[in-house]
Amino acid sequence: MPIKTPSSRQRTLPIETLAPRKRAKANGYEPISSVWEKSDGELIEAMLDFYPTIKPEPILDATYNAGRMWKGSKRDVWSMDVDPQYNTMIVGDNREMIGVPSEKFGVVVFDPPHVGPQGRDKSVKRFDIDFGATMECGKEHGWSLSYLYPPFLKQAKRVLKPEGLLLAKITDMVNSHRSRWAHCDFMRMAEEAGFTVCDLIVKIRTGPMLSTKWKMAHHARKRHCFWIICRNGDSCERFTDSRR
Ligand SMILES: C[S@@+](CC[C@H](N)C(=O)[O-])C[C@H]1O[C@@H](n2cnc3c(N)ncnc32)[C@H](O)[C@@H]1O
Repeated sequence: MPIKTPSSRQRTLPIETLAPRKRAKANGYEPISSVWEKSDGELIEAMLDFYPTIKPEPILDATYNAGRMWKGSKRDVWSMDVDPQYNTMIVGDNREMIGVPSEKFGVVVFDPPHVGPQGRDKSVKRFDIDFGATMECGKEHGWSLSYLYPPFLKQAKRVLKPEGLLLAKITDMVNSHRSRWAHCDFMRMAEEAGFTVCDLIVKIRTGPMLSTKWKMAHHARKRHCFWIICRNGDSCERFTDSRR
């Protein structure tokens, strides 16, 4: 099939002569990369461009905090956080979502705390505030925050339209001397809640977090987290029609 390239002054080239990426694009095959090295905000835009099969807005950000992911965005985002200091549109617990209408949203975004409170160490209090590290994850919770997921997932399913998307940023952690695989828990729990887990994107940051408190390393220092893409439906196939 001959196609026109932008730089060829309307010259027509056979598709076979194009570089693989351009050929893929010309064929309509333009995948998103499974590894992401830019910001969360840019990744969300890329995901909103790629995955939705229904109109993505309005979007519910169920763990809004300061809304860093939406800086400069013109998206119709409803903000929710349990902590009133962030002045979100909905101040409340995303495990209950009291008063939030059912089947309202095209996308729900979830970026829960991935560590518990940093104890009495005053130097990291700011970390607790910025990253919402306020939920307990001690022995009674199996040293993990995964207990937060099932009630949230039930509510996310309720407030999403059929075929809507759940985009979750999940980070594994080491707690009480063991790796806690939160992303595995989340994917299993999402399927149990009736979602289809469609994709997993690894997001990488440049430098690992380090502390002068730590004396010996027993685990790799994490430089990544996962974005998990779930659909409120049975299929991951994308169809393009007027609903988009
Ligand atoms: C990691 S921060 C989110 C950061 C945010 N995505 C950003 O880019 O600015 C997690 C947020 O989840 C909130 N949070 C924790 N548990 C919650 C719950 N059960 N319901 C609603 N918000 C919750 C915390 O208050 C915190 O602000």
